[in-house]
Amino acid sequence: MSDIYSDNMSRNATETQRLDEQFDLLTRNIGYLVHPSITDKLSAIDSPAIADIGTGTGSFLLQLARVYPKATLRGFDISQDLFPAPESLPSNVELGLMDVKQPPPSKEHNRYDLVHVRLLTAAMNPTDWEPAVRNLIQLLKPGGALQWEECDFTQCPYRRGRLDSSVSAARFMSTQFRMALMEKFSSGWSTLPQIMGSIGLLHVDDDIVSSDRVVETREAITTNGMVAIFLWAKLMSKRGAPGSLQIDELNKLEVQAARDIKSGCYVSYDVHIALGFKPE
Ligand SMILES: C[S@@+](CC[C@H](N)C(=O)[O-])C[C@H]1O[C@@H](n2cnc3c(N)ncnc32)[C@H](O)[C@@H]1O
Repeated sequence: MSDIYSDNMSRNATETQRLDEQFDLLTRNIGYLVHPSITDKLSAIDSPAIADIGTGTGSFLLQLARVYPKATLRGFDISQDLFPAPESLPSNVELGLMDVKQPPPSKEHNRYDLVHVRLLTAAMNPTDWEPAVRNLIQLLKPGGALQWEECDFTQCPYRRGRLDSSVSAARFMSTQFRMALMEKFSSGWSTLPQIMGSIGLLHVDDDIVSSDRVVETREAITTNGMVAIFLWAKLMSKRGAPGSLQIDELNKLEVQAARDIKSGCYVSYDVHIALGFKPE
C-alpha cells in the first residue's frame, strides 16, 4: 500500500484529538451525519450495513452507532494508527485495513447499504478519485448509497470578524499550506458528483454548506485548522523539506496566529457533500 497521506499529515495524539473535534465541527455546519435522502432509505431497513472508508478515529461510526444500534458498522483505513482501542468500541462496530485505491476484497462486495467517506483529499492525487469511486461502488448493495464529503481548501479566506482583527500570521500560514498541497486540494470536492454520475450512480447530488454556517463554531474551526497547518509545517521543518520554516520561527508564528484568531480572525470554506445511489 502506498500511503501518500503520511507525506503531509501526522498520526499522533494531537491529530487524533484534532480529527475528533474537526469531525464534530464540520457535522454541526453540515447539519446531518447522513443526507436526508439516504436516511429515508436506511430507516426502512431493520439492520443496515454501513461502511466508513478512511475512518481515522472512527468518529462517524461511533456517532452513527447511537442512531442505528442494530446496524452493522465497519470502518476501514489504510492505517490503524488513529483507531480507538478495540475494547472501547460498541459491539456492532469493527475497524480494519483497506486502501481506497485498491479493489476491495470480494468478501466485502455488495455488502453495504451506505458507504461513507469524509476528507481524503490529502491522500488523493487528481487521477485517484475515479478509481476510488469505482472501488467503493463494489462495496455497495444494489440500491445502496455513497456519501462523500470533501472541503474546498483552494479558497480559504481568513476574514476579519471585527474592525480591529489581526489576520496576517493566519493568512501567511494558510497560504504556505495551501500552496504546498494545491494539486491535491484542487479536485475531489469539484469532481466527485461528475465522476459519480459518469460511472452510473443515480440521483447524484452535491449539497454545499459553508464551514462557518453555524457562527458559534467559527473560532473553534479556525483554531482546529491552524493546528493541522502547524502540525504540517513542523513535520516539513523536521524533515528539512525545501522552503520549510525553522522551528523557532514557526513557534513565533503559532503564537501570532492564535492571537489573530482571538482577535476575531476566522476562516470560511465550502464543504461539499456528494452522494449517489447504485442502480437496483
Ligand atoms: C483527514 S483524515 C479523516 C478521517 C475521518 N474520515 C474524519 O473525517 O475524521 C483522513 C484519513 O484517511 C486515511 N487514508 C489515507 N489514505 C487512505 C487510503 N488510500 N485508503 C484508506 N484510507 C486512507 C488516513 O489514514 C486518515 O485516517
